Amino acid sequence: MKQEVIGRRESFLVFGAPLIEEEEIDEVVRTLRSGWVGTGPKVGRFEQAFRNFVGAPHAAAVNSCTAALHLSLLASGIGPGDEVITTAMTFCATVNAIIHTGATPVLADVDPATFNIDPEQVRRKITARTRAIVPVHFAGRPCDMDALLAIAAEHGLMVIEDCAHAIETEYHGRKAGTFGDFGCFSFYVTKNIITGEGGMVVSKREDDIARIKVLALHGMSKDAWKRFGDEGYKHYQVTDCGFKYNMMDLQASLGIHQLARVERYHARRSEIWRQYDAAYSGLPVGIPGPPEKHTRHALHLYTLLIDGDRCGMSRDRFLQEMTQRNIGVGVHYLCIAEHPFYQRAFGWRPEQVPNATGIGRQTVSLPLGPKLSDDDVADVIFAVHACLDSN
Ligand SMILES: Cc1ncc(COP(=O)(O)O)c(C=O)c1O
Repeated sequence: MKQEVIGRRESFLVFGAPLIEEEEIDEVVRTLRSGWVGTGPKVGRFEQAFRNFVGAPHAAAVNSCTAALHLSLLASGIGPGDEVITTAMTFCATVNAIIHTGATPVLADVDPATFNIDPEQVRRKITARTRAIVPVHFAGRPCDMDALLAIAAEHGLMVIEDCAHAIETEYHGRKAGTFGDFGCFSFYVTKNIITGEGGMVVSKREDDIARIKVLALHGMSKDAWKRFGDEGYKHYQVTDCGFKYNMMDLQASLGIHQLARVERYHARRSEIWRQYDAAYSGLPVGIPGPPEKHTRHALHLYTLLIDGDRCGMSRDRFLQEMTQRNIGVGVHYLCIAEHPFYQRAFGWRPEQVPNATGIGRQTVSLPLGPKLSDDDVADVIFAVHACLDSN
């Protein structure tokens, strides 16, 4: 079947493949040879570098953004009987982290122009049981934090920012993750910088980060990871019923060097973004709008909206045809209310969140990252045009 496609790229372009460079390869090898592979001094170095980068006083590295969200919610005192409002346009991890605390997630619809949670919809979902808001800076575009923080202040709500897409995101001169009570970041393999699996929590409050570090390592007392170090064996106490969410030095070995290149990688994505904008603006597809004033977009996902009526081709056929042309594509995301688990558990229906549902049925993410060569970018552009022209 593949051989029949004229102009098909020779090898498959993997969606979201990270750029791994020699410095992190050498660092990983040094870590492997050192005998100290688990949580240790390199995690500490990565936390410090990340704190400096986002301008947050305290940070805890963990093994995923999902863990970061879960622990931030727990440290916020969220639990059974509470409601937490989040966006209908996000990855399932955002909602699952809320469920894992025993609280009930409540979905708010998004603004169709930004794909971000609509503060007016949040306001409508507040009840006497609402305890927190979890906004997601979708694709790296910051949420309307002024409006969300005003709602939170009015109703005494915690704010936990899901910054999985938003390492470089800025809103009114400050980095995403520093507005709410907690900011949660992801270093998963497709993210703007990567540690394989990995995450980070930042916060203004030292005691919350200290609690998160304890919860991330079984609930064992502070710095229990040092018990096998050269300072002599130290007993630990279990002070909480925690989880196994700690980051390893092996992961931090990647993160330290990736973070040092975060601006170079952003600049390359920015170049590709401009080429995509120019190449697709005349096509019958939706493209991302420009960043809002006084904000910085992290440029994590470049999304097209494929409306079957306008394009003469369904979104799912477009996905298939791009794949046949050897271009890896993604869907970020089907609306949360489309998934059977949430429908069963909470009775959610897609029509309750029409904007997120509409986006989820039309959206396609194109390859975007520093690993792409100029030829790769030209191949993506060619394939998008060829797919749409084939109708
Ligand atoms: C918006 C959002 N939140 C949370 C996560 C979870 O991140 P992780 O894979 O690091 O747990 C992701 C991952 O894709 C995400 O896109």
